[in-house]
Amino acid sequence: GRNVGVLQEFQRKRAHRLLILCVLLFLSCFGPVSSLDLCDECHCKSTTVTCLHKNLMSIPQPLPANITTLFLTGNNISHLNESSFPVRLEQLTELYLSGNQMEQVDRGVFNNLPNLHSLDLSNNRILSFSRDAIPENNKLRVLNLSQSLYNVSYTDISNLLKHSFPKLSNLDLSNNDLKLFPDGISSLSDLATLDMRNNSVVSINNVTFRSQVLQRLDLRDNALKDIPNGTLADLSQIPGLWMYLTDNPWYCDCKMKDMVIWLQKFDFVADKANMTCFEPSELRNAPLLQVDQTKLQCNYSGNMKGVMETSYVFLGMVLALIGVIFLLVLYLNRKGIKRWMYNIRDACRDHMEGYHYRYEINSDPRLANLSLNSDV
Ligand SMILES: *[C@@H]1O[C@H](CO)[C@@H](O)[C@H](O)[C@H]1NC(C)=O
Ligand SMILES: *[C@@H]1O[C@H](CO)[C@@H](O)[C@H](O)[C@H]1NC(C)=O
Ligand SMILES: *[C@@H]1O[C@H](CO)[C@@H](O)[C@H](O)[C@H]1NC(C)=O
Ligand SMILES: *[C@@H]1O[C@H](CO)[C@@H](O)[C@H](O)[C@H]1NC(C)=O
Ligand SMILES: *[C@@H]1O[C@H](CO)[C@@H](O)[C@H](O)[C@H]1NC(C)=O
Ligand SMILES: *[C@@H]1O[C@H](CO)[C@@H](O)[C@H](O)[C@H]1NC(C)=O
Ligand SMILES: *[C@@H]1O[C@H](CO)[C@@H](O)[C@H](O)[C@H]1NC(C)=O
Ligand SMILES: *[C@@H]1O[C@H](CO)[C@@H](O)[C@H](O)[C@H]1NC(C)=O
Ligand SMILES: *[C@@H]1O[C@H](CO)[C@@H](O)[C@H](O)[C@H]1NC(C)=O
Ligand SMILES: *[C@@H]1O[C@H](CO)[C@@H](O)[C@H](O)[C@H]1NC(C)=O
Repeated sequence: GRNVGVLQEFQRKRAHRLLILCVLLFLSCFGPVSSLDLCDECHCKSTTVTCLHKNLMSIPQPLPANITTLFLTGNNISHLNESSFPVRLEQLTELYLSGNQMEQVDRGVFNNLPNLHSLDLSNNRILSFSRDAIPENNKLRVLNLSQSLYNVSYTDISNLLKHSFPKLSNLDLSNNDLKLFPDGISSLSDLATLDMRNNSVVSINNVTFRSQVLQRLDLRDNALKDIPNGTLADLSQIPGLWMYLTDNPWYCDCKMKDMVIWLQKFDFVADKANMTCFEPSELRNAPLLQVDQTKLQCNYSGNMKGVMETSYVFLGMVLALIGVIFLLVLYLNRKGIKRWMYNIRDACRDHMEGYHYRYEINSDPRLANLSLNSDV
């Protein structure tokens, strides 16, 4: 009986130990210890987690509840959806997702990050960005989409900007090959910095900014040919604005005169002294503000199509004129012409008669020897 009791005691202790081991194992897998695992793989300092170039395919889980800043630059997170941030993270304010080959940002991704303040999605290749990715009442102030919009439609980007960012202050849209100025930008009322450098924007003709706190507008390296003085007048009303406009193909014809006058009058175009003409070719690289006003001509120089069209029309008109003059001369001179024709007819007749006569002489064999010099 005693032996059995000892054995039971022994087995009970073993079971106890096993249970403790299991609990420990469980805790290490799913408990709070796991954020230590995250910090083994990544770098944690205070409330900042840094996971650079780890080839992560999704947002690491779980994130510490007190996280404020998350760097995930240079991973391979191509798709964000509702399960990317499954737990509410009240204190997360900065999120860096640059260089992730990101293609898709679905609806509801950032619903659990109510205090997100800075979002970096630069250097990605975003094909679709849901208009509902970001909750309406968000606090986003910095959005970096530099070199990251790849084939996102103009309507989508416009709608996204129009509806999603009530507090946005700094928007980086540089290096995106945008051809049109996204409509939604003008409705951002807190916008202070807009970087549109190195796109292909052809016109900002109808752009009126709602923001009166705009401080920096960078439009260098675009495809602008001119800016109408109305747009410049609007921009000059924004106090404290600095604008950058070099490296655009400015078209120095007569329409440029208004813009030059405006540029001379105001100083808000910070790099105006460095702006140069691109067309016409005689003025290429000439500093815009130093071009003699009389050289800003609209004679379609440098526009061969225009020249060809004008010259064809001109040629047609000249030919028509010549035709009319010819007919007029014929009409006025009709009597003279008649007389002239009679004269010709008479002359012909005389000539023919001469022939006839000569023929008769020639046919007379007795006069054959004389015929050689008879014409004179
Ligand atoms: C944040 O939470 C982790 C555990 O989740 C803890 O180790 C760390 O000390 C906390 N940091 C601060 C600054 O409270
Ligand atoms: C990134 O993930 C995709 C699959 O989503 C994979 O095909 C590709 O090889 C990954 N890239 C790197 C550098 O690991
Ligand atoms: C989110 O994406 C992951 C793969 O990237 C997928 O497994 C999961 O089902 C998706 N969740 C939702 C809600 O679509
Ligand atoms: C956006 O990201 C690019 C490249 O990652 C960086 O050069 C640029 O400074 C960032 N812009 C802002 C406003 O932080
Ligand atoms: C870009 O999107 C359009 C439709 O929006 C599609 O027809 C085209 O194939 C796409 N191009 C690339 C390179 O994905
Ligand atoms: C300009 O943007 C294109 C993408 O649209 C990029 O490939 C190129 O490197 C950028 N150029 C500079 C000088 O940053
Ligand atoms: C600007 O707006 C006017 C009318 O509001 C329109 O006729 C014109 O085509 C627009 N110009 C551009 C370049 O969008
Ligand atoms: C623009 O220039 C034209 C011609 O110089 C002038 O008639 C017009 O009033 C100007 N518009 C503004 C808004 O200054
Ligand atoms: C104008 O160009 C010169 C030489 O490239 C440069 O040093 C200067 O900073 C530029 N000025 C502005 C206002 O961009
Ligand atoms: C355009 O006209 C101006 C003045 O009439 C002249 O100096 C200039 O050479 C012309 N341009 C071309 C390309 O003919």
